[in-house]
Amino acid sequence: MTTLDVDHSSADALAFSERLKAETDAAHRETEQSGFVGALLGGKLTQAGLAALLGQTYLVYTSLEEAGRAHADNALVSPFLSDDLLRVAALEADLEFLIGENWREGLEALPATERYVARLQEVGVDWPAGFVAHHYLRYMGDLSGGQIIRRMLERAYGLQTDGLRFYTFDGIPKPKPFKDTYRANLDALDISAEEQQKFIDEVNIAYRLNGDLFADLEGNIESYLVK
Ligand code: HEM
Repeated sequence: MTTLDVDHSSADALAFSERLKAETDAAHRETEQSGFVGALLGGKLTQAGLAALLGQTYLVYTSLEEAGRAHADNALVSPFLSDDLLRVAALEADLEFLIGENWREGLEALPATERYVARLQEVGVDWPAGFVAHHYLRYMGDLSGGQIIRRMLERAYGLQTDGLRFYTFDGIPKPKPFKDTYRANLDALDISAEEQQKFIDEVNIAYRLNGDLFADLEGNIESYLVK
């Protein structure tokens, strides 16, 4: 058996969720190392920096959750949907707390947010598995790194619940069993090998869209730096 054969058979043995994680790991690490996130978590930004991130996040989740509602009766998508995940109401509460009740007036999509929302509308509505790819990236991220981020933001900005509701899943007190079930649902996805590859590619695209969004926010970082 050649080395190539060995590599191929071991790849086949991986569950889809494991393959997905392995083949998007580089994109995850790159996104995680964004300068904006580092500055935010290091407490170098004002609360306006957090509000700027949450405002763009609100525009993304509005589109993501709208697509989710459109797929509610789709058998491939429905195992992944849960009201406990929904973030739009939490984001509205955070933005009202951080900015005030007129927060919508100053909210404008950055160019990367526009591209992200356009991709969600294009892929998330017409391609059920593509929607799941975007759903996976956001909510599994929120239930994983998002929980570390929440604790760092609590420390850096002296916030408790208000302003951080986006990172708080009241209906999912224990992320681990929820994530285990989510991965089992990924493994049970009834899609062809070709569509599995397209799914993984879409997650990599989605990581890049998130990275671009952080880069756009970083472009305005001077206005959020603590003086
Ligand atoms: C400072 C920023 C971040 C940190 C510290 C972080 C940390 C982590 C950690 C420790 C895990 C593994 C959890 C587990 O296996 O249960 C994880 C998983 C994950 N993260 Fe992040 N992350 C960060 C940023 C992001 C961003 C920006 C995204 C996407 C926009 C993201 C998406 C994901 C996803 C989708 C997973 C699940 C991987 C899987 O199990 O399939 N993360 N993150």
